Amino acid sequence: MGAAVEPLMGKVLISETEIARRVEELAAQISRDYQGTVPTLVSVLKGGIIFLTDLMRKLEILHEIDFMSVSSYDSGTQTTGVVRILADLSRNIEGKDVIIVEDIVDSGLTLDYIRNMLLSRRPKSLKICTMLDKKARRRVEVPIDYVGFEVPDEFVIGYGLDYQEKYRNLPYVAVMVPNE
Ligand code: IMP
Repeated sequence: MGAAVEPLMGKVLISETEIARRVEELAAQISRDYQGTVPTLVSVLKGGIIFLTDLMRKLEILHEIDFMSVSSYDSGTQTTGVVRILADLSRNIEGKDVIIVEDIVDSGLTLDYIRNMLLSRRPKSLKICTMLDKKARRRVEVPIDYVGFEVPDEFVIGYGLDYQEKYRNLPYVAVMVPNE
C-alpha cells in the first residue's frame, strides 16, 4: 500500500546454511573462551536480536542476556557517532564479563560510543561479537573479538538488518537493490 518503494532482494550474500554454520562456530569459540564464567550478552536493539537468539541457543555455557536501545544523532545520512540512549541495560555490569552482540559494524562510531560507555561502568571484561563487519567503511578503530563474516561496502538487509524497519526477518543476508 502507498508509495513505499519496495526494494528487490538483490543477490543473496550469505545463505541461511552458511549463517547457521558460522553461528555454531562462533558459539563454540565463545563457549571455550568463557568456560567457567557466566558472561552477559548485551544486544543492541533492534538489529542484533536475531543473531543473539541464534547464538545463545548454541552456547554451551551459562550466560545472561540484556538489551540496550540507542539512536544515533544523524546529520543527513551520516552517523555522527553521538548516541542517545533510548533504553539502558536492566542490570549493573560492574565486575561482569560482558560481550556486546551486534548485527553489523559499519563506521564503528555507534559501537565505539557504546563500548566506552559500558567500559566506564567497570565490567570485569568487555568483548565485541558482530555477525557482519563492513570493514571498508570504518571511521574509528574498535577492537572486534568475534566476527561472523566480512561484507563489502554495500547496503545489506536480512538476519536482523533492516531497510526502513522492514526485512529484518529474512533468514539470509542480501544486498539491497532499490526498485527503480
Ligand atoms: P555505525 O555506527 O556506522 O557502525 O552504524 C552501525 C549501525 O548502522 C548498525 O548497527 C546498523 O543498524 C546500521 N547499518 C550499517 N550498515 C547497514 C547495512 O548495510 N544495512 C542495514 N543497517 C546498517
